[in-house]
Amino acid sequence: MTCENNEDGGINVGYKKVCIMGLGYIGLPTAAVLAKQGHDVIGVDVRSHVVETINRGEIHIHEPGLGELVNEVVKAGKLKASLQPEEADIFFICVPTPINEDKSPDLSYVRTASQAIRPYVRKGCLIILESTSPPKTTADVVVSHAVNEEWQVGEDIFVSHCPERVLPGKILREVVENDRIIGGVTPRCTDLTAAFYEGFVTGAVYRTTAITAEMTKLVENAYRDVNIAFANELSMLAAGFGADAHEVIKLANRHPRVDILTPGPGVGGHCISVDPWFLVHASPKDTPLIHCARMVNDSKPEFVVDQVLAYASQLDYPKVGCLGLTYKADVDDLRESPSYCIVRALIEADVAEVVACDPYVKPAEVPGVTLVGLSEATHDCDIVVLLTDHEIFRNLPVAMLLGKKVVDTRGIWRDQMAGAAAPIDRYAARAA
Ligand SMILES: NC(=O)c1ccc[n+]([C@@H]2O[C@H](COP(=O)([O-])OP(=O)(O)OC[C@H]3O[C@@H](n4cnc5c(N)ncnc54)[C@H](O)[C@@H]3O)[C@@H](O)[C@H]2O)c1
Repeated sequence: MTCENNEDGGINVGYKKVCIMGLGYIGLPTAAVLAKQGHDVIGVDVRSHVVETINRGEIHIHEPGLGELVNEVVKAGKLKASLQPEEADIFFICVPTPINEDKSPDLSYVRTASQAIRPYVRKGCLIILESTSPPKTTADVVVSHAVNEEWQVGEDIFVSHCPERVLPGKILREVVENDRIIGGVTPRCTDLTAAFYEGFVTGAVYRTTAITAEMTKLVENAYRDVNIAFANELSMLAAGFGADAHEVIKLANRHPRVDILTPGPGVGGHCISVDPWFLVHASPKDTPLIHCARMVNDSKPEFVVDQVLAYASQLDYPKVGCLGLTYKADVDDLRESPSYCIVRALIEADVAEVVACDPYVKPAEVPGVTLVGLSEATHDCDIVVLLTDHEIFRNLPVAMLLGKKVVDTRGIWRDQMAGAAAPIDRYAARAA
């Protein structure tokens, strides 16, 4: 098998057949980049429309530059999508790792994908778990479900974790340029995996153990969550005092050793709002701060809803325009989105006509939500709620908001509003 050491002790990382399980935001860009590098890539997904779309040379997600690259490598015969895995030299697992209702990790996708590749895994293969996973998942779940139990890991078969850290919107660049943490189940697994990544990554490749790699990714996202929670807690605290949290944070950040993040409507997406729970679930007594940060961030959407309802109660069945549904700016991802959650809660409250505007979202993706254009969501509304800071909303002239009640959860219009000629009723006081 080509992954084995060369005679001179180096590792042969020449072009190989790669099988990627899961063709979403992580798997598809990885598949396309590896195919462009010359590997023969088979991409596997359980959703037939995903497989069909990719085999037509199209994509099912929004990511700049990805459509063109997928089209190129599919037409060149280097990337093929399928519902079934095939024999390959290297297997990537890039399937979802969500949480259950009770916040425990749902590893069923990793388990199923590992079981699915097992008949196709041969001695000498490399298996790489890229899905963000709780500590021990690589050794316990992937090895036990994907590997023949008679084989010795690190001798007959090589298994590692390499967590992804890409930023949606910049995935193609970051898949190549980001530093990578490679954690093998054994040192030899680590070395072989690192050698493979060094073949296509321009960032630094750091070698460690599987457990450390798993923990590192979770710690990165828990760190982000805790810091965002601090900003979000401040935003609620400041509102109670009638102060502008964004102004408080801007001024506090003038201190040379203070760097508070910007508050928002909550924390969403498949990563930061989910991954810290893996740590909390694994060791509840050692994670009071991480747990508390999750609770603070999860409470923020309700706070925003209360702000809007307080305004609505001053008017007779007003029209509320909500700007943004996705979890972050300029992406089409609705997973765990606080913006979408806020819009649904406002609709459920039934004290206002609620419309939403999001250029990245199609009506079928948000049943029950009335999607309108930007003009109707601003000009025609009594209350305007900025939820996701898409570029199109950042560039909105605040003159369009004159006379409106505005809840700007991300503070993107505050400087413009401060200079507005006519008053805009900007929410400051804590909702009743
Ligand atoms: N999206 C990000 O920005 C990001 C960043 C870093 C890490 N991650 C992690 O990467 C992993 C994948 O995330 P994603 O955003 O690509 O998810 P995704 O939902 O976009 O894609 C996952 C794909 O896997 C498919 N799938 C599910 N079960 C399968 C199976 N048994 N076999 C084959 N395909 C299967 C799904 O149909 C889906 O298309 C997660 O663990 C996530 O936490 C994501």
